[in-house]
Amino acid sequence: MIMGVNPGVALALVLLIFGVFLGGGIMAAAAPKPITFVFGDSLTEVGNNNFLQYSLAKSNFPWYGIDYTGGKATGRFTNGRTIGDIISEKLGIAPPPAYLSLSPYDDAILKGVNYASGGAGILNDTGLYFVQRLSFDDQIRNFAKTKSTIKAKIGENATSALLSEAIYFIGMGSNDYVNNFLQPFLADGQKYTHEEFVELLVTTLEQQLVELYQLGARKMVFHGLGPLGCIPSQRVKSKTGECLKQVNRWVMIFNSKVEKLTAKLNRWLPNAQLMFADTYPAVYDLISNPTAYGFKISNTSCCNVDTSVGGLCLPNSKVCKNRKDYVFWDAFHPSDAANVVLANKLFQTIFATSTAPAPSPN
Ligand SMILES: *[C@@H]1O[C@H](CO)[C@@H](O)[C@H](O)[C@H]1NC(C)=O
Ligand SMILES: *[C@@H]1O[C@H](CO)[C@@H](O)[C@H](O)[C@H]1NC(C)=O
Ligand SMILES: *[C@@H]1O[C@H](CO)[C@@H](O)[C@H](O)[C@H]1NC(C)=O
Repeated sequence: MIMGVNPGVALALVLLIFGVFLGGGIMAAAAPKPITFVFGDSLTEVGNNNFLQYSLAKSNFPWYGIDYTGGKATGRFTNGRTIGDIISEKLGIAPPPAYLSLSPYDDAILKGVNYASGGAGILNDTGLYFVQRLSFDDQIRNFAKTKSTIKAKIGENATSALLSEAIYFIGMGSNDYVNNFLQPFLADGQKYTHEEFVELLVTTLEQQLVELYQLGARKMVFHGLGPLGCIPSQRVKSKTGECLKQVNRWVMIFNSKVEKLTAKLNRWLPNAQLMFADTYPAVYDLISNPTAYGFKISNTSCCNVDTSVGGLCLPNSKVCKNRKDYVFWDAFHPSDAANVVLANKLFQTIFATSTAPAPSPN
């Protein structure tokens, strides 16, 4: 039944991360072992959807997790680690646990939480056909609950300090395209021109980022979208298997608007330190020149998915022999090996700028 649901079952996409930040040095101020809060979709999920009984956006079955510690599916939408997992390793911290895996007063929340949910988007109705997923608004509401619990544990002032020093990784928007605007049978693709749609996304995102700020977030890293037109689920729509240029153009418009938004919020919100991580160029380069990075294939996925019924790697799918040869694991998500390349790049960009002058708050 997962399959019946629709063509894009899955999730998210985005390709990830990496990129160039606007205000280099922002993260330089981070503590050696920062606390991180993660908001996102299937690219960053670590198992929240496993707790949503009716969600169709799940990956808790083989072959997912085959290259993760223990070799078992965890709810991550890849064969191994997400980019977030790899960044956490580099920071010397454990990847923050899935919000829904924690008991309400769990002390673990003091070290960071992952709110990400496959199928989620900036807009509430994105990913509607997954039945259950935690939209960005839902994730922010859950973060507000976390904040109350932290306050009950350590008091108001320590909570403000903790939240303002923490790093917030936010990766949203891929599903607003892949599982909303680009789905011909959903309303938003019919109702809006792209220009109107991207405006709706960016104004909604602005409110959401301001809400996080009001809750105490200061250091926020927004991962721009990757070239969604080049992911396997989109390529199959082209007769020749090429990247969909129109989709890539739209993604770039979204990215440039979000980049401007983060700059604006940095001017308006005292002590805000938002960074826009432009993931697009690096992901595009990896897809265009896979051999330069030690990969062989970037135009189709390791798992022989059926893109007409969802594009996830189902238990009866065939998996490629050498998973490190492929940039993509399924029709939407990069392989563990690709995530390593992308995470290294992202990490350098965010954290290797400690010699840059700190931005001045005024
Ligand atoms: C999305 O849902 C949340 C909570 O259900 C609500 O507060 C918010 O206004 C909704 N946003 C839009 C754009 O409908
Ligand atoms: C909390 O911070 C405020 C403002 O800095 C200060 O006046 C107050 O004494 C602090 N409260 C505690 C319990 O430390
Ligand atoms: C991927 O690229 C290879 C080499 O250019 C080509 O032979 C193959 O047909 C392409 N596969 C898909 C699914 O487009």
